[in-house]
Amino acid sequence: MKDMTAANLRSAFGGESQAHMRYKIWADVAEKEGFANIAKLFRAVSFAEQIHATSHFAVLKDVTGAFVVTSMAGFGIGRTKDNCAGAVAGEQFEINEMYPTYKNTAEFQAEKNAERSFLWALETEKEHAKLFLKAKEAADKKQDTSFKKIYVCRVCGYTHEGEPEGKCPLCGAPREKIEVFEC
Ligand SMILES: [Fe+2]
Ligand SMILES: [Fe+2]
Repeated sequence: MKDMTAANLRSAFGGESQAHMRYKIWADVAEKEGFANIAKLFRAVSFAEQIHATSHFAVLKDVTGAFVVTSMAGFGIGRTKDNCAGAVAGEQFEINEMYPTYKNTAEFQAEKNAERSFLWALETEKEHAKLFLKAKEAADKKQDTSFKKIYVCRVCGYTHEGEPEGKCPLCGAPREKIEVFEC
């Protein structure tokens, strides 16, 4: 694999792994503050970030050894409204800078599997940003979100509010590959 794409996959693996954990921690904060549905949103998205980390790691299967990995990752445990704002900012960085750049580099370097893994993450993060923005707006008013269900594709991580209507709209995985989180 080309060096720059491999480095980008490692960085993205680091970023997604940390987002996976950070959202779990922020889910617990939301739970304690009485935002049960926002907690479920954090847990569903945490699961999606695990899918992305796993996908990036799988694409790197032939790159072995230890590497220092630099990733953009948010820190801090604030109140839920602050954590939602932090989540929106993190997702927007991935949408506006990180994943388009990584995806274009992979395309230029003809690394098809990496390009697909970055595309799956990029398109999913757009949904995450929308969901966290709704959660932030609710938390700012000291309200919980009113999502009924959130689904996550176990293949590509695609996340959406509601019930899946059939195949995954992002990767085409069958309905049985989609996990539904009840809120
Ligand atoms: Fe995300
Ligand atoms: Fe999918």
